[in-house]
Amino acid sequence: MQDAFYHTPVLVDEALSLLITGRDGVYVDATLGGGGHAEAILSLLSPSGQVIGFDADEDAIRFAAQRLQPFGDRATCIRNNFRNLQGVLVERGVPPVSGVLFDLGISSFQLDEPSKGFSFRTDEQLDMRMDRSGAIDAQEIVNRYGERELAELFWKFGEERASRRIARAIIRRRDHHRIATTGDLATLVQESVGERFLNKSLARIFQALRIEVNNELESLQAGLNQAVDVLHPGGRIVVIAYHSLEDRIVKDMFKRAAATSLPSGHKLVPDTILQPTLKIITKKPLEASGKETRANPRARSAKLRAAEKLT
Ligand SMILES: C[S@@+](CC[C@H](N)C(=O)[O-])C[C@H]1O[C@@H](n2cnc3c(N)ncnc32)[C@H](O)[C@@H]1O
Repeated sequence: MQDAFYHTPVLVDEALSLLITGRDGVYVDATLGGGGHAEAILSLLSPSGQVIGFDADEDAIRFAAQRLQPFGDRATCIRNNFRNLQGVLVERGVPPVSGVLFDLGISSFQLDEPSKGFSFRTDEQLDMRMDRSGAIDAQEIVNRYGERELAELFWKFGEERASRRIARAIIRRRDHHRIATTGDLATLVQESVGERFLNKSLARIFQALRIEVNNELESLQAGLNQAVDVLHPGGRIVVIAYHSLEDRIVKDMFKRAAATSLPSGHKLVPDTILQPTLKIITKKPLEASGKETRANPRARSAKLRAAEKLT
């Protein structure tokens, strides 16, 4: 795996210019992946600047640790979910940090690696766990959840219009045949929606399962809240999201933390004055340039938001 292509990082210059406020600081990369962003951060920092990286996937940690070896003890790679970010930093005695970067979702390596079971483009064992010690994989979900639960899942996390039809097809099929591979599932989706919008439906169904397996939206909410807590005043949080559910969570969280008042909803009752904890830096999310999306199609859906800790 060492020399293999891993992942092309997205919006690197934009992320770094918003994240780095001082070259001596400690920065957290909450989603190390192949270590592309982390390496770029370390290259910009002074010899006393550090990066502490997290990833739930042990392959990512192994790969990133090797890539960041030239930086010695200025790079720390931790296999853990970023939902535990604050506890891990406190346990290690890390003082308030200068920045936290989240580059969400899965890496190209995870998508392309057959043993991870994420891709509908090849036929592989359905799995989708970033963390292999996770209790439930995608195979369990499609073979165990009830019809209603599946339909709700495909609708809520995939915004798939044919969610009920696909859920029904899964239940019918699994009566006599366990759905074991990404190919089994892709065939069922194809039979349910036809050819015309097949790729979009496949992407939505696979996205929904991935979110459920890895509890992604809850982890994101927890990780964002903790990131704000571990920053020192003036520190930055930068998030790159790849689909609207993630981006909405980031946008809403920033908005709540930056609010200066809570409307009472009644003209005779004064609004509640709030002490904001964040200042939003990106009024609108940044997107990748045409040049970047041509070179790296994965950048097409990326939306970057940044905010600064106030107090
Ligand atoms: C898009 S990749 C990051 C790529 C990285 N920025 C780079 O330059 O190579 C996302 C990574 O985040 C990890 N990840 C996603 N959600 C996570 C979570 N809740 N906790 C820890 N790691 C997570 C995935 O395992 C994956 O390796």
